[in-house]
Amino acid sequence: MLHCTYILSVHGKEIRVIHGSCPQDRTMTTNKATPQVYFRKLWIADTAALKAHLLRLDAESRRMRFGTPVSDFFIKQYAENALGSHSVAHGYFVDGVLRGVAELRGFRGVAGGEAEAAFSVEKEFQNRGIGTELFGRTVLVARNRGISKLFVNFLSQNQRMQAIAKKFDAVLTFDSDGVLGKIDAPRANALTYWKEAMTDGEDIANSLLQSQSRALRSA
Ligand SMILES: CC(C)(COP(=O)(O)OP(=O)(O)OC[C@H]1O[C@@H](n2cnc3c(N)ncnc32)[C@H](O)[C@@H]1OP(=O)(O)O)[C@@H](O)C(=O)NCCC(=O)NCCS
Repeated sequence: MLHCTYILSVHGKEIRVIHGSCPQDRTMTTNKATPQVYFRKLWIADTAALKAHLLRLDAESRRMRFGTPVSDFFIKQYAENALGSHSVAHGYFVDGVLRGVAELRGFRGVAGGEAEAAFSVEKEFQNRGIGTELFGRTVLVARNRGISKLFVNFLSQNQRMQAIAKKFDAVLTFDSDGVLGKIDAPRANALTYWKEAMTDGEDIANSLLQSQSRALRSA
């Protein structure tokens, strides 16, 4: 995970410089002209934002995400129950709007086990390293929750997901239903716990500063 410098600017006047993680080498300098972006974990309070994000997926991305075409009704029902203590989700926000999501669910306590991950990035933001960043964060939280095997299901024509899974050394099994990617997550250690805690802290700081700056801009 690389780090970027975020410069928050209100009416052209710089107010704060902080460092945060960013996908690959896409530098994210935040000022009046460029969008404000950040990643953070999602909470139950983000349910409406998750629903809106999934509903905004174009037909092809929606099919890729759920493995089959699904209705708005299905998505609304799905999103209602997606966030909670049974899952860990990360979001990618642009100007305060949720544009990308990674969901990790199915883990069973800290004694080890298996979990499944799913990803969605809105079309306009695809192919910019967002999915890779979300994947990395998901693998990290899986490790820290004692997950030893992480699975990702996707359709065989999903080249992007295949490319990302390979970056994380996934073993891919192909069958008529699609592809099952299996990632063996190494055991957590002090460094992985520290990394998650640091990342969470940076994410919260970024999101608060950006909300403040948006509020000031619109005042
Ligand atoms: C799959 C998805 C999450 C990936 O997110 P993303 O932000 O677009 O992905 P990234 O930009 O991080 O990485 C995409 C990779 O695929 C590669 N790629 C893109 N098109 C490709 C193609 N046709 N063939 C092979 N590789 C391709 C890119 O080069 C990139 O790899 P790189 O970083 O080594 O260059 C996103 O595209 C999406 O939401 N799709 C619809 C929903 C979905 O498919 N979900 C997965 C099922 S759970």
